Amino acid sequence: MKKFNVLFDEENCAIMPEDFGEYKTENIITTNSKMIDIINICLRIAKSDAPILITGDSGVGKELLSELVHKNSKRKKETFVKVNCAAIADNLKEAEFFGYEPGSFTGASKYGKKGLIELSQNGTLFLDEIGEMPLNLQSTLLRVLQDGKFVRVGGYKEIKSNIRLICATNKNLKSLVDKGLFRNDLYFRLNVIPITIPPLSERLDDIPLLALYFSNYFNNQYNSTKKLSRDLINRLISQSWNGNIRELKNTMERLVLISLNNVITIGDLKYVGSISQKTDIEDLSNFETNNFEINKPLKKLIEEFELDILKRSVDKYGSIRKAAKVLDVTPSTISRKLSKNYNESS
Ligand SMILES: Nc1ncnc2c1ncn2[C@@H]1O[C@H](COP(=O)(O)OP(=O)(O)OP(=O)(O)O)[C@@H](O)[C@H]1O
Ligand SMILES: [Mg+2]
Repeated sequence: MKKFNVLFDEENCAIMPEDFGEYKTENIITTNSKMIDIINICLRIAKSDAPILITGDSGVGKELLSELVHKNSKRKKETFVKVNCAAIADNLKEAEFFGYEPGSFTGASKYGKKGLIELSQNGTLFLDEIGEMPLNLQSTLLRVLQDGKFVRVGGYKEIKSNIRLICATNKNLKSLVDKGLFRNDLYFRLNVIPITIPPLSERLDDIPLLALYFSNYFNNQYNSTKKLSRDLINRLISQSWNGNIRELKNTMERLVLISLNNVITIGDLKYVGSISQKTDIEDLSNFETNNFEINKPLKKLIEEFELDILKRSVDKYGSIRKAAKVLDVTPSTISRKLSKNYNESS
Protein backbone atom coordinates (compact mmCIF):
# COMPACT_ATOMS: atom_id res chain seq x y z
CA MET A 1 0.00 0.00 0.00
CA LYS A 2 1.35 3.44 -0.78
CA LYS A 3 2.02 6.21 1.69
CA PHE A 4 -0.67 8.84 2.04
CA ASN A 5 0.43 12.47 2.00
CA VAL A 6 -2.27 14.94 2.72
CA LEU A 7 -2.53 17.65 0.05
CA PHE A 8 -4.23 21.02 0.44
CA ASP A 9 -6.21 23.11 -2.02
CA GLU A 10 -5.96 26.85 -2.65
CA GLU A 11 -8.19 27.52 0.40
CA ASN A 12 -5.76 25.51 2.56
CA CYS A 13 -8.25 22.69 3.01
CA ALA A 14 -7.32 19.02 2.92
CA ILE A 15 -8.11 17.30 -0.36
CA MET A 16 -9.81 13.94 -0.36
CA PRO A 17 -7.50 11.72 -2.43
CA GLU A 18 -8.97 10.40 -5.67
CA ASP A 19 -7.30 7.05 -5.16
CA PHE A 20 -8.86 6.65 -1.73
CA GLY A 21 -9.70 3.02 -2.43
CA GLU A 22 -6.00 2.18 -2.25
CA TYR A 23 -6.00 2.83 1.49
CA LYS A 24 -9.01 0.65 2.14
CA THR A 25 -9.14 -3.08 2.87
CA GLU A 26 -12.79 -4.06 3.39
CA ASN A 27 -13.79 -1.37 5.90
CA ILE A 28 -10.36 -0.75 7.34
CA ILE A 29 -8.73 2.50 6.29
CA THR A 30 -5.02 2.87 6.92
CA THR A 31 -1.72 4.05 5.52
CA ASN A 32 0.35 2.95 8.49
CA SER A 33 2.96 0.29 7.84
CA LYS A 34 2.36 -1.60 11.11
CA MET A 35 -1.38 -1.74 10.34
CA ILE A 36 -0.71 -2.89 6.80
CA ASP A 37 1.46 -5.73 8.16
CA ILE A 38 -1.35 -6.70 10.52
CA ILE A 39 -3.91 -6.70 7.71
CA ASN A 40 -1.64 -8.83 5.54
CA ILE A 41 -1.06 -11.32 8.35
CA CYS A 42 -4.80 -11.51 8.96
CA LEU A 43 -5.53 -12.07 5.27
CA ARG A 44 -2.95 -14.87 5.22
CA ILE A 45 -4.30 -16.65 8.27
CA ALA A 46 -7.95 -16.00 7.47
CA LYS A 47 -8.15 -19.16 5.37
CA SER A 48 -7.05 -21.42 8.20
CA ASP A 49 -9.18 -22.32 11.18
CA ALA A 50 -6.55 -21.27 13.73
CA PRO A 51 -7.93 -19.24 16.64
CA ILE A 52 -6.92 -15.59 16.72
CA LEU A 53 -6.51 -13.38 19.75
CA ILE A 54 -6.76 -9.66 19.00
CA THR A 55 -5.61 -7.27 21.68
CA GLY A 56 -5.51 -3.49 21.71
CA ASP A 57 -6.90 -0.48 23.52
CA SER A 58 -10.52 0.50 23.32
CA GLY A 59 -11.62 1.77 19.91
CA VAL A 60 -8.53 0.68 17.92
CA GLY A 61 -10.52 -1.51 15.53
CA LYS A 62 -10.49 -5.02 17.03
CA GLU A 63 -14.01 -5.83 15.92
CA LEU A 64 -13.36 -4.45 12.44
CA LEU A 65 -10.32 -6.70 12.10
CA SER A 66 -12.29 -9.75 13.21
CA GLU A 67 -14.81 -9.00 10.43
CA LEU A 68 -11.97 -8.81 7.93
CA VAL A 69 -10.82 -12.28 8.97
CA HIS A 70 -14.30 -13.77 8.70
CA LYS A 71 -15.03 -12.16 5.32
CA ASN A 72 -11.81 -13.55 3.91
CA SER A 73 -12.14 -17.01 5.36
CA LYS A 74 -13.65 -20.07 3.75
CA ARG A 75 -16.51 -19.62 6.24
CA LYS A 76 -17.52 -16.24 4.82
CA LYS A 77 -20.93 -17.49 3.65
CA GLU A 78 -21.68 -18.94 7.09
CA THR A 79 -22.72 -17.02 10.19
CA PHE A 80 -20.50 -14.60 12.07
CA VAL A 81 -21.71 -14.56 15.66
CA LYS A 82 -20.52 -11.75 17.92
CA VAL A 83 -20.71 -12.13 21.66
CA ASN A 84 -19.71 -9.69 24.33
CA CYS A 85 -18.57 -11.93 27.18
CA ALA A 86 -19.12 -9.13 29.71
CA ALA A 87 -22.75 -8.73 28.70
CA ILE A 88 -24.11 -12.25 29.12
CA ALA A 89 -26.42 -12.57 32.11
CA ASP A 90 -24.60 -14.37 34.90
CA ASN A 91 -27.05 -17.15 35.58
CA LEU A 92 -27.53 -17.90 31.91
CA LYS A 93 -23.93 -18.10 30.83
CA GLU A 94 -23.68 -21.87 30.23
CA ALA A 95 -27.07 -22.02 28.57
CA GLU A 96 -26.23 -19.07 26.33
CA PHE A 97 -23.11 -20.80 25.13
CA PHE A 98 -24.23 -24.36 24.87
CA GLY A 99 -27.96 -24.05 24.47
CA TYR A 100 -30.37 -26.12 26.49
CA GLU A 101 -32.86 -28.92 26.17
CA PRO A 102 -36.59 -28.28 26.77
CA GLY A 103 -37.46 -27.55 30.39
CA SER A 104 -33.91 -27.86 31.74
CA PHE A 105 -34.32 -24.99 34.20
CA THR A 106 -36.98 -22.61 35.48
CA GLY A 107 -37.86 -20.10 32.82
CA ALA A 108 -36.37 -22.19 30.02
CA SER A 109 -38.29 -22.35 26.77
CA LYS A 110 -40.28 -25.56 26.39
CA TYR A 111 -38.74 -25.99 22.95
CA GLY A 112 -35.14 -25.76 24.14
CA LYS A 113 -32.72 -23.35 22.55
CA LYS A 114 -29.58 -23.37 20.48
CA GLY A 115 -26.55 -21.84 22.16
CA LEU A 116 -24.02 -19.49 20.64
CA ILE A 117 -21.67 -22.34 19.72
CA GLU A 118 -24.41 -24.11 17.82
CA LEU A 119 -25.51 -20.86 16.17
CA SER A 120 -22.01 -20.24 14.87
CA GLN A 121 -21.67 -23.83 13.64
CA ASN A 122 -19.56 -23.88 10.42
CA GLY A 123 -19.01 -20.14 10.83
CA THR A 124 -17.02 -17.83 13.09
CA LEU A 125 -17.60 -17.07 16.75
CA PHE A 126 -16.25 -13.71 17.88
CA LEU A 127 -15.81 -13.55 21.64
CA ASP A 128 -15.36 -9.91 22.57
CA GLU A 129 -13.98 -8.93 25.99
CA ILE A 130 -12.78 -12.48 26.53
CA GLY A 131 -10.93 -11.25 29.64
CA GLU A 132 -14.32 -10.82 31.33
CA MET A 133 -15.25 -14.47 30.94
CA PRO A 134 -15.75 -16.07 34.36
CA LEU A 135 -13.52 -19.00 35.28
CA ASN A 136 -16.26 -21.64 35.24
CA LEU A 137 -17.21 -20.74 31.69
CA GLN A 138 -13.55 -20.70 30.70
CA SER A 139 -13.33 -24.35 31.74
CA THR A 140 -16.34 -25.26 29.63
CA LEU A 141 -15.03 -23.37 26.63
CA LEU A 142 -11.70 -25.12 27.03
CA ARG A 143 -13.46 -28.48 26.98
CA VAL A 144 -15.19 -27.60 23.71
CA LEU A 145 -11.89 -26.59 22.18
CA GLN A 146 -10.14 -29.73 23.38
CA ASP A 147 -12.85 -32.25 22.56
CA GLY A 148 -14.36 -30.53 19.54
CA LYS A 149 -17.80 -31.32 20.90
CA PHE A 150 -20.29 -30.15 23.50
CA VAL A 151 -23.57 -31.03 25.18
CA ARG A 152 -26.59 -28.76 25.63
CA VAL A 153 -27.51 -27.90 29.22
CA GLY A 154 -29.86 -30.60 30.46
CA GLY A 155 -29.01 -32.83 27.50
CA TYR A 156 -26.86 -35.89 26.93
CA LYS A 157 -26.33 -35.96 23.16
CA GLU A 158 -22.88 -34.82 22.15
CA ILE A 159 -22.80 -32.30 19.30
CA LYS A 160 -19.68 -31.98 17.20
CA SER A 161 -18.55 -28.37 17.08
CA ASN A 162 -17.10 -26.78 13.98
CA ILE A 163 -16.33 -23.15 14.71
CA ARG A 164 -13.56 -20.67 14.04
CA LEU A 165 -12.84 -18.69 17.17
CA ILE A 166 -11.69 -15.08 17.23
CA CYS A 167 -11.28 -13.46 20.64
CA ALA A 168 -10.64 -9.84 21.49
CA THR A 169 -9.70 -7.99 24.63
CA ASN A 170 -8.36 -4.63 25.74
CA LYS A 171 -6.91 -6.28 28.85
CA ASN A 172 -3.53 -7.88 29.13
CA LEU A 173 -4.62 -11.54 29.23
CA LYS A 174 -1.19 -12.75 30.31
CA SER A 175 -1.35 -10.60 33.43
CA LEU A 176 -4.88 -11.92 34.11
CA VAL A 177 -3.34 -15.39 33.91
CA ASP A 178 -0.66 -14.34 36.41
CA LYS A 179 -3.36 -13.07 38.77
CA GLY A 180 -5.28 -16.34 38.49
CA LEU A 181 -8.22 -14.70 36.75
CA PHE A 182 -7.71 -16.40 33.41
CA ARG A 183 -6.90 -20.05 32.80
CA ASN A 184 -3.39 -20.57 31.57
CA ASP A 185 -4.33 -23.56 29.40
CA LEU A 186 -7.18 -21.63 27.75
CA TYR A 187 -4.87 -18.67 27.20
CA PHE A 188 -2.46 -20.88 25.26
CA ARG A 189 -5.27 -22.38 23.22
CA LEU A 190 -6.66 -18.99 22.24
CA ASN A 191 -3.34 -17.30 21.73
CA VAL A 192 -2.26 -19.36 18.71
CA ILE A 193 -2.11 -16.25 16.56
CA PRO A 194 -1.73 -13.11 18.69
CA ILE A 195 -2.41 -9.81 16.97
CA THR A 196 -1.92 -6.49 18.74
CA ILE A 197 -3.41 -3.41 17.15
CA PRO A 198 -1.40 -0.28 17.98
CA PRO A 199 -3.21 2.73 19.48
CA LEU A 200 -3.72 5.81 17.34
CA SER A 201 -0.85 7.53 19.19
CA GLU A 202 1.50 5.05 17.50
CA ARG A 203 0.09 5.67 14.03
CA LEU A 204 -0.28 9.40 13.71
CA ASP A 205 0.07 9.05 9.94
CA ASP A 206 -3.43 7.54 9.91
CA ILE A 207 -5.06 10.61 11.50
CA PRO A 208 -5.39 12.90 8.42
CA LEU A 209 -6.56 9.98 6.29
CA LEU A 210 -9.15 8.86 8.82
CA ALA A 211 -10.28 12.44 9.48
CA LEU A 212 -10.88 12.91 5.75
CA TYR A 213 -12.59 9.57 5.44
CA PHE A 214 -14.94 10.17 8.38
CA SER A 215 -15.73 13.76 7.38
CA ASN A 216 -16.57 12.53 3.91
CA TYR A 217 -18.72 9.75 5.38
CA PHE A 218 -20.66 12.12 7.64
CA ASN A 219 -20.92 14.78 4.92
CA ASN A 220 -22.75 12.15 2.89
CA GLN A 221 -24.87 11.14 5.82
CA TYR A 222 -25.86 14.68 6.79
CA ASN A 223 -25.97 16.10 3.29
CA SER A 224 -23.16 18.59 3.68
CA THR A 225 -19.86 19.32 1.90
CA LYS A 226 -17.69 20.54 4.75
CA LYS A 227 -13.93 20.64 4.27
CA LEU A 228 -11.11 20.38 6.82
CA SER A 229 -8.66 23.23 7.28
CA ARG A 230 -4.90 22.69 7.52
CA ASP A 231 -4.80 23.95 11.11
CA LEU A 232 -7.52 21.50 12.09
CA ILE A 233 -5.64 18.57 10.56
CA ASN A 234 -2.49 19.58 12.42
CA ARG A 235 -4.38 19.89 15.68
CA LEU A 236 -6.01 16.48 15.23
CA ILE A 237 -2.55 14.97 14.79
CA SER A 238 -1.20 16.55 17.98
CA GLN A 239 -4.32 15.77 20.00
CA SER A 240 -4.38 12.78 22.36
CA TRP A 241 -6.97 10.17 21.46
CA ASN A 242 -7.59 7.94 24.44
CA GLY A 243 -10.68 6.53 22.75
CA ASN A 244 -8.64 5.94 19.58
CA ILE A 245 -10.43 5.67 16.21
CA ARG A 246 -13.88 5.55 17.78
CA GLU A 247 -13.21 8.92 19.43
CA LEU A 248 -11.85 10.41 16.21
CA LYS A 249 -14.90 9.14 14.34
CA ASN A 250 -17.30 10.67 16.88
CA THR A 251 -15.37 13.92 16.83
CA MET A 252 -15.64 14.13 13.05
CA GLU A 253 -19.36 13.37 13.22
CA ARG A 254 -19.93 16.19 15.68
CA LEU A 255 -17.76 18.63 13.74
CA VAL A 256 -19.58 17.94 10.49
CA LEU A 257 -22.91 18.22 12.22
CA ILE A 258 -22.34 21.24 14.39
CA SER A 259 -19.81 23.55 12.68
CA LEU A 260 -21.36 26.55 10.97
CA ASN A 261 -19.18 27.18 7.96
CA ASN A 262 -18.16 25.15 4.99
CA VAL A 263 -14.60 24.91 6.27
CA ILE A 264 -14.13 23.23 9.65
CA THR A 265 -11.32 24.90 11.59
CA ILE A 266 -9.64 24.63 15.00
CA GLY A 267 -12.19 27.11 16.32
CA ASP A 268 -14.93 24.53 15.79
CA LEU A 269 -13.26 22.20 18.28
CA LYS A 270 -15.04 24.14 21.02
CA TYR A 271 -18.12 22.21 19.96
CA VAL A 272 -16.44 18.93 20.86
CA GLY A 273 -14.83 20.28 24.01
CA SER A 274 -14.29 16.89 25.56
CA ILE A 275 -11.64 15.50 23.29
CA SER A 276 -8.42 16.45 25.03
CA GLN A 277 -9.54 16.35 28.62
CA LYS A 278 -12.03 13.54 28.47
CA THR A 279 -14.43 13.84 31.40
CA ASP A 280 -15.27 10.58 33.00
CA ILE A 281 -18.76 10.92 34.29
CA GLU A 282 -19.80 7.66 35.82
CA ASP A 283 -23.36 8.46 36.56
CA LEU A 284 -25.57 11.08 35.04
CA SER A 285 -27.72 11.06 38.15
CA ASN A 286 -24.88 12.78 40.01
CA PHE A 287 -25.56 15.75 37.85
CA GLU A 288 -24.63 19.04 39.53
CA THR A 289 -27.80 21.06 39.48
CA ASN A 290 -26.13 23.74 41.62
CA ASN A 291 -24.24 24.91 38.54
CA PHE A 292 -27.41 26.51 37.36
CA GLU A 293 -28.09 29.95 38.57
CA ILE A 294 -31.81 30.50 38.77
CA ASN A 295 -31.94 33.78 36.95
CA LYS A 296 -33.67 32.94 33.68
CA PRO A 297 -37.02 31.73 32.49
CA LEU A 298 -37.69 28.13 33.41
CA LYS A 299 -37.87 27.11 29.76
CA LYS A 300 -34.35 28.42 29.13
CA LEU A 301 -32.98 26.70 32.26
CA ILE A 302 -34.55 23.41 31.28
CA GLU A 303 -33.06 23.73 27.81
CA GLU A 304 -29.61 24.30 29.26
CA PHE A 305 -30.03 21.38 31.62
CA GLU A 306 -31.16 19.19 28.75
CA LEU A 307 -28.26 20.26 26.58
CA ASP A 308 -25.79 19.44 29.32
CA ILE A 309 -27.30 15.97 29.70
CA LEU A 310 -27.10 15.41 25.94
CA LYS A 311 -23.46 16.48 25.71
CA ARG A 312 -22.45 14.39 28.70
CA SER A 313 -24.31 11.36 27.38
CA VAL A 314 -22.67 11.53 23.97
CA ASP A 315 -19.28 11.77 25.73
CA LYS A 316 -20.07 8.96 28.09
CA TYR A 317 -21.49 6.49 25.56
CA GLY A 318 -19.18 7.47 22.73
CA SER A 319 -21.71 8.20 19.98
CA ILE A 320 -24.97 9.97 19.36
CA ARG A 321 -26.58 6.67 18.40
CA LYS A 322 -25.62 4.94 21.66
CA ALA A 323 -26.55 7.92 23.82
CA ALA A 324 -29.92 8.05 22.06
CA LYS A 325 -30.53 4.43 22.93
CA VAL A 326 -29.85 4.98 26.64
CA LEU A 327 -31.89 8.18 26.79
CA ASP A 328 -34.64 6.55 24.75
CA VAL A 329 -34.84 9.26 22.12
CA THR A 330 -33.97 9.15 18.43
CA PRO A 331 -30.43 10.06 17.30
CA SER A 332 -31.88 12.87 15.20
CA THR A 333 -33.48 14.40 18.32
CA ILE A 334 -30.04 14.64 19.92
CA SER A 335 -28.40 15.98 16.74
CA ARG A 336 -31.15 18.54 16.28
CA LYS A 337 -30.99 19.81 19.84
CA LEU A 338 -27.19 19.97 19.85
CA SER A 339 -26.91 21.79 16.55
CA LYS A 340 -29.84 24.12 17.32
CA ASN A 341 -28.17 25.25 20.48
CA TYR A 342 -24.72 25.68 18.95
CA ASN A 343 -26.13 27.67 16.09
CA GLU A 344 -28.01 29.93 18.50
CA SER A 345 -25.14 30.45 20.90
CA SER A 346 -22.53 31.48 18.34
N1 LIG B 1 -8.92 1.64 10.45
C1 LIG B 1 -10.20 2.00 10.53
N2 LIG B 1 -10.84 2.51 9.45
C2 LIG B 1 -12.13 2.90 9.53
N3 LIG B 1 -12.88 2.82 10.63
C3 LIG B 1 -12.30 2.31 11.73
C4 LIG B 1 -10.95 1.87 11.74
N4 LIG B 1 -10.66 1.40 12.97
C5 LIG B 1 -11.77 1.54 13.70
N5 LIG B 1 -12.76 2.09 12.97
C6 LIG B 1 -14.11 2.44 13.45
O1 LIG B 1 -13.96 2.87 14.80
C7 LIG B 1 -14.97 2.32 15.65
C8 LIG B 1 -14.34 1.44 16.71
O2 LIG B 1 -13.80 0.25 16.09
P1 LIG B 1 -14.02 -1.20 16.76
O3 LIG B 1 -15.39 -1.33 17.31
O4 LIG B 1 -13.57 -2.22 15.78
O5 LIG B 1 -12.98 -1.06 17.94
P2 LIG B 1 -12.68 -2.06 19.16
O6 LIG B 1 -11.20 -2.17 19.25
O7 LIG B 1 -13.46 -3.31 19.00
O8 LIG B 1 -13.20 -1.21 20.39
P3 LIG B 1 -13.64 -1.72 21.90
O9 LIG B 1 -12.39 -2.16 22.59
O10 LIG B 1 -14.17 -0.48 22.53
O11 LIG B 1 -14.64 -2.79 21.70
C9 LIG B 1 -15.91 1.58 14.72
O12 LIG B 1 -16.95 2.45 14.35
C10 LIG B 1 -15.05 1.24 13.53
O13 LIG B 1 -15.82 1.11 12.36
MG1 LIG C 1 -15.00 -4.06 20.23
